Amino acid sequence: MLSFSSAHPLTTPVKGIFTPLELLNWRHSPGAENTPTLGRITLNSMQRDHLTSGVPQKLPSKDLLQWDQTLFKDERYFELDYIPEHFSHRDTQMRALKIAARPALRGARPINCLCSGPHGTGKTTAVLKVFEEIENYTDSVVPVYVNCQIDSTRFAIFSEIYKKLFKYTPPDSGVSFKRVFKKITKYLIDQEKVLIVALDDINYLFYENTVNKVLYALLRAHEVSAEVKVGVIAISSDLSVEMSKALDPRVMSVFLPEGIYFPLYNRDEVRDILEDRVRHGFYANVVPDDVLNMVIDLVEESSDLRVGIDLLRKTGLRAEISARKYIAADDVVHSHEKSRLVHLTYSIHSLREEERDLLKLIAEQEAKIKAGDLYKKFNEETHLGYTRFYDIISKLDSIRLINTDFTGRGTRGRTREIQLRYEPEDVFSVLAGTDT
Ligand SMILES: Nc1ncnc2c1ncn2[C@@H]1O[C@H](COP(=O)(O)OP(=O)(O)OP(=O)(O)O)[C@@H](O)[C@H]1O
Ligand SMILES: [Mg+2]
Repeated sequence: MLSFSSAHPLTTPVKGIFTPLELLNWRHSPGAENTPTLGRITLNSMQRDHLTSGVPQKLPSKDLLQWDQTLFKDERYFELDYIPEHFSHRDTQMRALKIAARPALRGARPINCLCSGPHGTGKTTAVLKVFEEIENYTDSVVPVYVNCQIDSTRFAIFSEIYKKLFKYTPPDSGVSFKRVFKKITKYLIDQEKVLIVALDDINYLFYENTVNKVLYALLRAHEVSAEVKVGVIAISSDLSVEMSKALDPRVMSVFLPEGIYFPLYNRDEVRDILEDRVRHGFYANVVPDDVLNMVIDLVEESSDLRVGIDLLRKTGLRAEISARKYIAADDVVHSHEKSRLVHLTYSIHSLREEERDLLKLIAEQEAKIKAGDLYKKFNEETHLGYTRFYDIISKLDSIRLINTDFTGRGTRGRTREIQLRYEPEDVFSVLAGTDT
């Protein structure tokens, strides 16, 4: 049953360390005694009043949520993999994707694309929406979406394609890649179908040369027979990774993608998108204007729309726990701690156990550490060899959890130094969450 928690929200510690009130006091900017901040954001007087007065211990009963009531009209609107019906502000990119796919509708090879841009700018959504349209329009083009965070080997990726074509997965063992590949190409020829494969978060393939093996197999499939027609849409949010450098010239010469860039949404666009979610996801008057403004501020600060969508959901749940009929500013303060780590959480969830072990070890170091010294510690803990260590380092680097720089000099020439890209406490807190 919903009831007010006995602890006052402003004095209940966040992550067991600071209370929101302490956070507020410590974030007063110098010289501006009465302007508390959230992150780098200065709160306006209304938000401040909301926050410093806290949530009254007793609300008038008309403002209380009954135990069987909810603030959510439809919680799906706040799920991160929800595909929005209204996908605005991406007309140019959607048009470019459709133009690239058009030859496939005539039975010809589609144009390859590279969708790039910062996190939360709608790359995955745009491709999935175009795929949905293609599937509704024709059976002769088969779009296959692959999440390379999950399927990061050549066999796993071709298994996904196989599954889409044949409606079942090839067995994990006893079947060679060659046989799976042959069955796929034969099917495409016999059924006269064109294949479009989206490789989302392709940077997860940028280790162990996987990306070249995968693209080589897909893009050179027509060499088996001119009747095989395959197009690739690569999606990457990692702006530092230059495809042309990561790709083998033999692959690049057949890939030649059309670049489609997804810029950050501006403030008005963020507001428009979030208002749409609020309208569909919550009942009327659940999100006051000042609360929505705070959420928009935090999206701007983090440059990720996903933080805002996640924040709306978490604040809604928190308000429900307090049996309130509206979201208050202090719900935003509390929930922001978790929502700002939404990306880190996403990346860490995709790691295997020994990859998490190495990440934890790196987070435990007080400063940059030389690769050789780190390997010694890793080997003592896990007994894994240097090759595996090196592969994990490349992976953690390619998904931007760590930096690896050739800087200092070692006894045998240049040495690599490794450093975490996040605050160690944030990494520990997310790692602890993944254990449960
Ligand atoms: N124009 C838009 N309208 C409505 N919702 C949007 C829009 N753009 C993005 N979103 C929402 O924002 C979230 C992130 O979008 P998406 O996953 O497509 O981003 P991305 O560019 O693929 O990010 P990443 O690089 O982190 O994978 C999703 O929940 C999506 O529904
Ligand atoms: Mg994406």
